Amino acid sequence: MPVKPNVYITRKIPEPALARLREACDISMWEEEDIPVPREILEREITKADGLFCLLTETIDEALLEKAEKLRVISQMAVGYNNIDVHAASRRGIVVTHTPGVLTETTADLTFALLLATARRLVEAEHFLRRGEWKTWSPMLLTGRDVFGATLGIIGLGRIGEAVARRAKGFDMKVLYYNRNRKPEAEKSLGVIYTDLDSLLQESDFVCVLTPYTPQTRDLIGERELALMKDTAVLINTARGGIVNEAALYSALKNGRIWAAGLDVFEQEPVSPDHPLLSLPNVVALPHIGSASVQTRIKMAMMAANHLLQALRGQVPDYVVHP
Ligand code: DGY
Repeated sequence: MPVKPNVYITRKIPEPALARLREACDISMWEEEDIPVPREILEREITKADGLFCLLTETIDEALLEKAEKLRVISQMAVGYNNIDVHAASRRGIVVTHTPGVLTETTADLTFALLLATARRLVEAEHFLRRGEWKTWSPMLLTGRDVFGATLGIIGLGRIGEAVARRAKGFDMKVLYYNRNRKPEAEKSLGVIYTDLDSLLQESDFVCVLTPYTPQTRDLIGERELALMKDTAVLINTARGGIVNEAALYSALKNGRIWAAGLDVFEQEPVSPDHPLLSLPNVVALPHIGSASVQTRIKMAMMAANHLLQALRGQVPDYVVHP
């Protein structure tokens, strides 16, 4: 690379990834940790960039890409890429990359943690104790739902879905799955059972949403689907908010159609503290922290940095998103 390419980074990223990019590129970076780059700044920066390092908080759409005259690569530090118009990028010959694999186990850990926390009402119980309301041990006080031996339905048996299934096996759960394609290998190695979506919803005690967010999966779980679930069932969503219709979920939780929900993702992020779902005691809500371990976030940043460098060197990056 005789002349250093210009790279724009849309947020402060872990130092090892930044150092790697600095060696080979001229870097500009949005330095804030907690505020996404304003659109007008991104629009200005994109005109000069050969490479873009971005997060799921940036909307990379046609209008932005029209300004990206030099751009050769968009490297997303996430496995999901629903914020990027991959077709528009591809029409312009811009490579899009993402970071699958490195966050699988961490996200599966969080999914299972959220399942356990929701089933056993951990957040509610902790607040109860801290408010000084714990007067005595009582037979039915803060009773939840058994996880061990229950039936888990996984919607979307990708890498993370399989990693959740492995954890569920340790809890002696029966694991059903619904996926675009049947996965005979996983059926053999993990003992998971393929079902259609309606049967999965009817039979599961816990339903985990782990499918990618696409026009086809938008509102996949709505009023009709929630009505099929057991009234004792728990819904967990660690994929994307828009896959579950939030108005329908609110009404199902409020009216006791289902028992509880654990949500790491919301249609609008950050979710407003006034959102109706957050008024419900049977909701455990987290701020999209599925992959948030120190080790994993560093790995994701390094992987995204490597993809950017590979593309700028004219190599095919390890994980390209195809339209
Ligand atoms: C992803 O990678 O898509 C997660 O939602 C954030 O790690």
